[in-house]
Amino acid sequence: MRIGITKGRLSKATERYLKEAGVETWGAIERELIVKRGEHEFVFMKGSDLIPYVAQGVLDVAITGSDILLESDQELSELTELPFGVCRMSVCAKEPLQFEGGRRVRIATKYPVIAKRYFSELGVDVDIVPLNGSVELAPLLGLADAIVDIVETGETLRANGLNEYEKIIDISARFFTSEWTLKRKRVEVIQLLEQLTEGVTR
Ligand code: PRP
Repeated sequence: MRIGITKGRLSKATERYLKEAGVETWGAIERELIVKRGEHEFVFMKGSDLIPYVAQGVLDVAITGSDILLESDQELSELTELPFGVCRMSVCAKEPLQFEGGRRVRIATKYPVIAKRYFSELGVDVDIVPLNGSVELAPLLGLADAIVDIVETGETLRANGLNEYEKIIDISARFFTSEWTLKRKRVEVIQLLEQLTEGVTR
């Protein structure tokens, strides 16, 4: 199988989990982006980039956070939830948001789809400011009133004087594929799914 792996903080937890499930993993690598081990080929990239690769069937399966899947507009098949990469997406700011007073509230985020949906379900109109990283800067520097972002330990918020006001959703890692791949490689996908869900003793 050609397996997409999310670079960054999720990759260590993913490797640990795969190892426990009996999958031969990549080990010490430096800058390689494609690594073949045993019967699998691991491809490393940003979580959001995994989506088109899996949707097009270029990668057979991948592991990333549920935040990435929720944000995507592609039809993908989530195979299972995995017990790592646990965090949450929350609304964070210096002080509680005030929706009255005429001025529209500005929300900076790496997740415009999730943020828009959340505030429209609340029935409030907000302006979304899409950013790509270090979104905590936006309320600190006055670009936005609040952020919608991932909170794991809460340390980044604490270090920057921000507070978590509302949890939008719990997040964890997901193993996913596409309908296209499920049709063509069903046996292999299911085999790996079983290995990942049954092979790990918890
Ligand atoms: C994520 C998130 C927060 C931080 C939260 O950013 O956007 O900044 O982690 O983690 P904590 O609650 O444990 O402090 P990431 O490290 O992925 O980097 P980025 O801001 O460059 O996207």
